[in-house]
Amino acid sequence: MENTKIPRHIAIIMDGNGRWARERGLPRIAGHYKGVEVAEDIARYCIEIGVSYLTLFAFSTENWYRPKEEVELLFGLLKKYLTDKRDELIELGIYTRFIGRRDRIDKDILTLMEAMERDKPKDIKLNLILAIDYGGRDDIVRAVRKLINKGFKEVDEISFSKFLDLGSVPDPDLLIRTAGEKRISNFLLWNIAYTELYFTDVCWPDFNRDILDEAIEDFSKRKRKFGRILNE
Ligand code: IPE
Ligand code: IPE
Ligand code: MG
Repeated sequence: MENTKIPRHIAIIMDGNGRWARERGLPRIAGHYKGVEVAEDIARYCIEIGVSYLTLFAFSTENWYRPKEEVELLFGLLKKYLTDKRDELIELGIYTRFIGRRDRIDKDILTLMEAMERDKPKDIKLNLILAIDYGGRDDIVRAVRKLINKGFKEVDEISFSKFLDLGSVPDPDLLIRTAGEKRISNFLLWNIAYTELYFTDVCWPDFNRDILDEAIEDFSKRKRKFGRILNE
């Protein structure tokens, strides 16, 4: 990966856990379990290659419409992860934060999330941002609400974006979606205005470091123009 441009911020729509499990005759939750392991390995790899921000879509505002049983299993998995991994993440230099609504999440899980956000490693090697009960439209509406409540009469793109969940986090350079679907599914709408998109057919539980390398190699070859004309 010499001469490869490493994206500062990678965002991932981790999709296909259910299909991965079904193909193996396993319950959907088995795909989510494997998906968590993959997410952790990818976070470790991001530290190795020098990615500063990794934003993972873990649960959307629309995922509440799934059967209650699956929603409960997903939050159970999150709770277990936040409990078991807390110290390890800090030791690795991973600073974990969350984006999304907080008013519909169980209090015990919310307490764990807030504790994690307070635990800032001394030397931050990776900013890990987990999108839970996150919707891009909801993010924008909540930002507008905050502006109204603060009595803003004027707003521009820069002041507005500070009120979004990602706040001053730089926009993603690369957005990856797994499992073959070519849509955004209400992930970061505002922040991906100029993000490079990469789609792979591989389901998230089969995603690995090599596939991330391929995505980064591809990203590296793209000419980002931001509407301008490049002098080449
Ligand atoms: C992504 O995998 C994880 C979540 C949305 C929580 P899915 O659960 O959407 O898996 P598929 O798309 O049904 O295969
Ligand atoms: C997007 O995947 C949400 C997450 C990965 C958390 P979905 O599986 O919910 O998206 P759709 O329903 O295929 O658009
Ligand atoms: Mg899906």
